[in-house]
Amino acid sequence: MAFDYPSKNRSYEAALARTKECLKANDVENGGLYLSKAIALSFELSQNAAIPEMASRFAKENAKLKKVQELLSKGENPFLKTKAQPSGDTEEDIQAAVTGLFSNKAPTTRLDDVAGLAEVKEQIRINVLLPLNNPELYFKYKNEAGARIIMYGPPGCGKSFVAEAIAGELKCHYAVVVLSDILDKYVGEAPKRIKAIFEEAERYDNVLLFFDEIDALCASRDSDESTHTRDIMNTFLTCMSGFKPKGKALKVIIGATNRPWALDPALVRGGRLDTAIYVRLPDEKARAFFVDKEFQRYRDVFEGGELTREYLIEQLDGYSGADIKSILDQTKTRTLKRVLEAKLPAGQYFKVSKEDFDLALSAHHNPVNAEMILRYEMFEKGVGL
Ligand SMILES: Nc1ncnc2c1ncn2[C@@H]1O[C@H](COP(=O)(O)OP(=O)(O)OP(=O)(O)O)[C@@H](O)[C@H]1O
Ligand SMILES: [Mg+2]
Repeated sequence: MAFDYPSKNRSYEAALARTKECLKANDVENGGLYLSKAIALSFELSQNAAIPEMASRFAKENAKLKKVQELLSKGENPFLKTKAQPSGDTEEDIQAAVTGLFSNKAPTTRLDDVAGLAEVKEQIRINVLLPLNNPELYFKYKNEAGARIIMYGPPGCGKSFVAEAIAGELKCHYAVVVLSDILDKYVGEAPKRIKAIFEEAERYDNVLLFFDEIDALCASRDSDESTHTRDIMNTFLTCMSGFKPKGKALKVIIGATNRPWALDPALVRGGRLDTAIYVRLPDEKARAFFVDKEFQRYRDVFEGGELTREYLIEQLDGYSGADIKSILDQTKTRTLKRVLEAKLPAGQYFKVSKEDFDLALSAHHNPVNAEMILRYEMFEKGVGL
């Protein structure tokens, strides 16, 4: 039977939630049972995920959960917040870890490499690139430059990629902070770490802070309004309010999430991450961008063949950028296999066929479904969820 990804994913999320619930209540016996279930499911998901990004995310979660299991077997419950997990880190260790988050080299990715997403690009062109390139004009109208954006949408549609492109355009220092990592790893020290990240960012003129999985800050709001959770959130809000452009320096802060409905309203109100942008599935133009790039890059094997760009653009509707790339890659692998099997003389090859593509497409599991998209669209329209 085919792997039922959505249902496995739901079971996994449920097992994870129950694990946290039990362990926070120090019910180690039941927590341990749910934990084993979550470990098994995350392993299965990592083995069967359709795209490499999802597979590696589940593999990482699986490793994290195994560490929790190890701690439990030693009689330590990392979810007991009163007994903050001692990391043994000194101030210097924290500083070194935080400095290490900031890349010294700007990425080579540019906004022109991003397919679609005109709204994000426009925001950045006006509020970030214009003040950099034409400050006289910009500061006639505005007194601060920079951007505070929250990007949301289904996995694989380019949230992280856009952040990289912005850092590439700005040629600036850039830090990617995966919030769930900080919160899970440094239970008691999360506020200290968050503060240190903002302090480090202050040292640079132009800087971009990218907070991935920002919903992790608010994730336990419904189930556990603990002092600890509030502390982390308050620290984050205070740091963010102080993280302001000074003079002509540019401060860009971007949060990304797949679950915008889980965010605390305090995080997204005016003066905070107040520009919300839906990073949607590629529209026809964006799909054409991917396909044309592929045709240019691999001209020999596509041009003049039976597989047309129009057919690809139409068939790839409903897939994320990451999935489109993966499907096109799988398609070429099929053609390559045919060439090898046919033992063609050196220098001869087949064009990519329609069948290669159709087979690759049908073998690909789409992690994004219509129900998910509807939920994002309702959120975008401000319809209650
Ligand atoms: N709009 C796009 N333009 C160009 N490339 C894209 C786009 N969307 C996705 N990709 C490609 O897919 C890869 C994965 O996308 P990315 O990691 O940015 O998605 P994401 O929205 O951050 O997903 P997640 O929610 O899982 O973090 C990118 O590295 C890039 O190669
Ligand atoms: Mg991402």
